[in-house]
Amino acid sequence: MTIRPDNAALLANQAAIDACDVTVVGGAGHVGIPLVLALAEAGLRVNVNDLNRTSLGMLQAGRLPFIENGAQEALNRALLDGRLVFTDSPDRISGRRPVIITIGTPIDEFFNPVRKVVQDCVDAILPSLADRQLVVLRSTTFPGTTEWLASYLRAKGRDLLVAFCPERIVQGDGLKELRELPQIVSGATPEAEREAVRLFERIAPEVVVIPPTEAEFAKLFTNAYRYIEFAVTNEFYLVAKSAGVDYQRVLKAMKHNYPRLKGVPRPGFAAGPCLVKDTMQLSAFARNQFALGHAALLVNEGLVLHVVDDLKRRYDLAGMTVGLLGMAFKAESDDIRASLSYKFKKVLSAQARAVLTTDPFVKTDPELRALDEVIAMSDLLIMCAPHAAYRKADFRGKPVFDLWGHLEGGNVIR
Ligand SMILES: NC(=O)c1ccc[n+]([C@@H]2O[C@H](COP(=O)([O-])OP(=O)(O)OC[C@H]3O[C@@H](n4cnc5c(N)ncnc54)[C@H](O)[C@@H]3O)[C@@H](O)[C@H]2O)c1
Repeated sequence: MTIRPDNAALLANQAAIDACDVTVVGGAGHVGIPLVLALAEAGLRVNVNDLNRTSLGMLQAGRLPFIENGAQEALNRALLDGRLVFTDSPDRISGRRPVIITIGTPIDEFFNPVRKVVQDCVDAILPSLADRQLVVLRSTTFPGTTEWLASYLRAKGRDLLVAFCPERIVQGDGLKELRELPQIVSGATPEAEREAVRLFERIAPEVVVIPPTEAEFAKLFTNAYRYIEFAVTNEFYLVAKSAGVDYQRVLKAMKHNYPRLKGVPRPGFAAGPCLVKDTMQLSAFARNQFALGHAALLVNEGLVLHVVDDLKRRYDLAGMTVGLLGMAFKAESDDIRASLSYKFKKVLSAQARAVLTTDPFVKTDPELRALDEVIAMSDLLIMCAPHAAYRKADFRGKPVFDLWGHLEGGNVIR
């Protein structure tokens, strides 16, 4: 495919920026890209604003910086149709049309939210924005942030329409889910709410309107619930294991033709960039009195240590090379942010003779080796991220520890 360079020039001129229907700040990130493409698919011209020039350059050249299913075709179409403009600084945003913010919102070393990230971003783009312009927070935020932002802007003498419309996609399938899922929409004022509804109706099959603080809780509850679900199944796994019972068989029997348990996930390493962080944001809001959230953290993070202890009982790890299969935080992903595979690597490195790692998707870790090499050099293999490709791998009869229940065979240990 040939991309017309004028469609995608990083140094887009002001006229091209002003011609955009919407700006996505953080538009080259995991949430930003599917949103940008969904907006472009809806016929809008989008200013993809991001500080990461590498990711912008890749998008401009028609390449995705990370795996996003179905997004390649959408990116090609958006570029060919001239729907994307790429900008790399806060002063390259039009004061005319809505701005959606999708930047990362981390927690700090005390597991507390960092509101300053939002404040700094808004302060930086503020000179570019005009009064009465719609600013939508799409990042996951601490309850009260939207109302705080509205009053912060008022105190600065600015009259912007502030909305909060949380992203709830599952990473990797964002584009598909944006087409299918209802969007929760909220506004700090009725006018902000109305404008945000108008915008999100362009891409969503349905919008659900609630006040901002409720929308903020809805997002955090969604992620904390999911994190707790993983903890439930992981704890069941540990209880079954302590009784010498095969949890995979129990789980299969429990779920068979039994609709109420359809959603119970399989056991495995539950982490990644959002679930822990958002559970801890909720906990920070609850003055650390979020018992289930903290219990989930203990179980999900502790699982790695339980597995290492279990392996230590079974094997003389000090004399063994152990191969870790899958370093991404989940299956079929190339994202290693907050992946428990790395915690596993760290803990195991203090126990085993050597730890080798492999992942077919991850491109950002120079220590990764080819799967065949890891299998050949390892005495023991651990399924860390259950990528589909591992189902077809030849493990040469070597033992594979697989708590996910991803593999079958005589060499598989649970
Ligand atoms: N990853 C997910 O699947 C997911 C799902 C739902 C919600 N969320 C939430 O969405 C938000 C973004 O998460 P993400 O995974 O997309 O993060 P990300 O790091 O992949 O993307 C954030 C992007 O924002 C850019 N950025 C940061 N500060 C900026 C600034 N001041 N101006 C312009 N660009 C800036 C970064 O360069 C990056 O490209 C977080 O609040 C997260 O909790 C994420």
